[in-house]
Amino acid sequence: MAEKIILAYSGGLDTSVMVPWIKEKYGYDVVTYTCDLGQGDNIEAIRQKALKTGAVDAVAEDARNLFVDHFVFPALMAGALYEGKYPLATALGRPLIAKLMVDVARKYEAKAVAHGCTGKGNDQVRFDVTFQTLAPDLKIVAPVREWSMTRPQSIEFCKARGIPVEAKPESPYSIDQNLFGRSVEAGLLEDPWDEAPEEAFAWTTDPRKAPNEPEYIEIEFDHGVPIGLNGVKMDGVPLIEKLNKIAGAHGIGRIDHVENRLVGIKSREIYEAPGAVVLHEAHREMETLCLSKPAARFKTMVSQEYADLIYNGLWFGAFHQDLFAFVASNQRFVSGVARVKLYKGKAFVVGRKSENSLYSKKLATYDEGSDYDQAAAQGFIKLWGYGQQTQAKLQLLKGGRGFDLPGLAGPKE
Ligand code: ARG
Repeated sequence: MAEKIILAYSGGLDTSVMVPWIKEKYGYDVVTYTCDLGQGDNIEAIRQKALKTGAVDAVAEDARNLFVDHFVFPALMAGALYEGKYPLATALGRPLIAKLMVDVARKYEAKAVAHGCTGKGNDQVRFDVTFQTLAPDLKIVAPVREWSMTRPQSIEFCKARGIPVEAKPESPYSIDQNLFGRSVEAGLLEDPWDEAPEEAFAWTTDPRKAPNEPEYIEIEFDHGVPIGLNGVKMDGVPLIEKLNKIAGAHGIGRIDHVENRLVGIKSREIYEAPGAVVLHEAHREMETLCLSKPAARFKTMVSQEYADLIYNGLWFGAFHQDLFAFVASNQRFVSGVARVKLYKGKAFVVGRKSENSLYSKKLATYDEGSDYDQAAAQGFIKLWGYGQQTQAKLQLLKGGRGFDLPGLAGPKE
């Protein structure tokens, strides 16, 4: 019997061609691996297709809970948005798929793993680094990086081997999706000046056609993790599914991003992530009540590092564990409810409350009965201003000079 390889299998043309291609080129028996991350595919149908395509075995499993509890929610707690925009759906899915493939490889005593990523993207990095980290003994095969088949050639390749290919017209886009969002690139989107056409979107209503009345929803958080929607406690998977529907109907979650890939190029991607966008907004607002000023400021740096490490494929690393230790501690008081108004493509947080709120109405109010000691302000300001006042006297304004205003210089005499 030949040695086995575990192939990440989506059921699309590329990964279908890979089954016979890997067998012919490398001699491995191919076991396909497909998991449900909420992308909306029928994974059992995909498993059957893999077997028809020549796989010696085909594994399909539901990994949605693992995905949400151990990947999506930690990223949300961390406030991880790549370059301040992308909620990282694809980037979060890859390390989980790779990890589950390693588990399957051990079960089948396979010697190698394979994926269908191109040599231009970030996903190859996320897969390969995860494989290298968790199972350095496994050989990695990435056929798309090796072959030079065009789509018609791939179809020919399958036909010549009696492998069924669907006559589905080719999408003009490259699409990846899971529960946390949809990533769309290529085709018309490659010109960053061109607005994404309506056909690029699948989860969101055109905001112009969204309801004319706003909808209010309430999201409950516990230690930074969403646990309820509109007063009903919910597990992560149904909660995100529901939010995707509700917010998508209001046209929320469209993101147009020219991003910096890890492999040195800029690329333009359209994301649709209605649930992710609402959750990040709501979560950030919970933090405004529950985090102190320095904790919130420091957290913004951690958010950026966290987003970068996810994007750059370093999920299974010690630095991630270090950062998560901070995040978990930082989130321990982030519990409460955010009230979000959904309207014409935008989610506005219009209310927030928490048992751990640091907001003190007694101190903040302009009404009677405030505890705030206004007289103490004078002394505070006096000390606060000493440094700047001293420097101005001794340096900036020395000798009767005026203060040079920053900005465009006027005509100098
Ligand atoms: N640019 C995104 C990332 O690197 C998405 C990549 C996959 N996109 C796609 N359309 N296939 O995470």
